[in-house]
Amino acid sequence: MGLPGPGIDAFEEEMVEAVKGPAPVIGSLFAAIPEDFAFLARRMQRYGAAAVELNLSCPHAKGYGMEIGVDPDMVRAIVQEVKRSVNIPVLAKLTPNTHLLAEVGRAVERGGGDAIVAVNTVKAMAISVDARRPVLYNRTGGLSGPAIKGVGLRCVYELYDAVNIPIVGVGGIESAIDALEYMMAGAAAVQIGSAVGRKGIGVFGQVTDGMTKYLEANGMSSIGEVVGLAHE
Ligand SMILES: Cc1cc2nc3c(=O)[nH]c(=O)nc-3n(C[C@H](O)[C@H](O)[C@H](O)COP(=O)(O)O)c2cc1C
Repeated sequence: MGLPGPGIDAFEEEMVEAVKGPAPVIGSLFAAIPEDFAFLARRMQRYGAAAVELNLSCPHAKGYGMEIGVDPDMVRAIVQEVKRSVNIPVLAKLTPNTHLLAEVGRAVERGGGDAIVAVNTVKAMAISVDARRPVLYNRTGGLSGPAIKGVGLRCVYELYDAVNIPIVGVGGIESAIDALEYMMAGAAAVQIGSAVGRKGIGVFGQVTDGMTKYLEANGMSSIGEVVGLAHE
């Protein structure tokens, strides 16, 4: 979780540990204006991040996230400023809560973004009939998990037609089939969020094993062969 994170100074210590592992570490950044995103990106690069992901999509933070991520001009300005400031790849994480998704995706591309991550959570709410009020303090929040898979798939599918940079699919993935659906929609890679909470850290191995079995069963030698298949 980035939002309640300890801040960029304290993050230096976490990165010392994180970059010791075998996997590349992508730093998630959260700010309101291009200059602040660029400042954070430079720090992440200094800490050894392999790439940065710009959170332009949280549905529950005033003046941040989704509120700036639905404005194509702002998105382009942020991506451009970060690209000018670092030489590691820059990914922009987008919200599904907009009718301007393709425009926002193209703004990332025009700003020089290296990839798009789709999607962040879907703006939603829960109500307690006992308390007779919204469960969340903010009234609304972000819905994740299997309920949003169809939304995420649709977004990746539309972005694949709109841009020429790679798309990372996320939203409701907890099995190899889910991941393959995202790749057929056009995702070149996938992320797994809330399924880690439900299924444990083993979910990554289960998904990749299942994908390998699918490739073998279908006579494919590379996962790249799956990307975009649903568009043919
Ligand atoms: C508890 C929780 C915290 C999250 N925090 C962040 C965050 O700080 N920054 C961000 O970009 N996305 C955040 N997300 C969104 C997830 O990264 C992901 O985009 C979303 O949950 C959909 O994927 P999933 O269905 O696999 O969880 C959070 C999601 C959850 C459930």
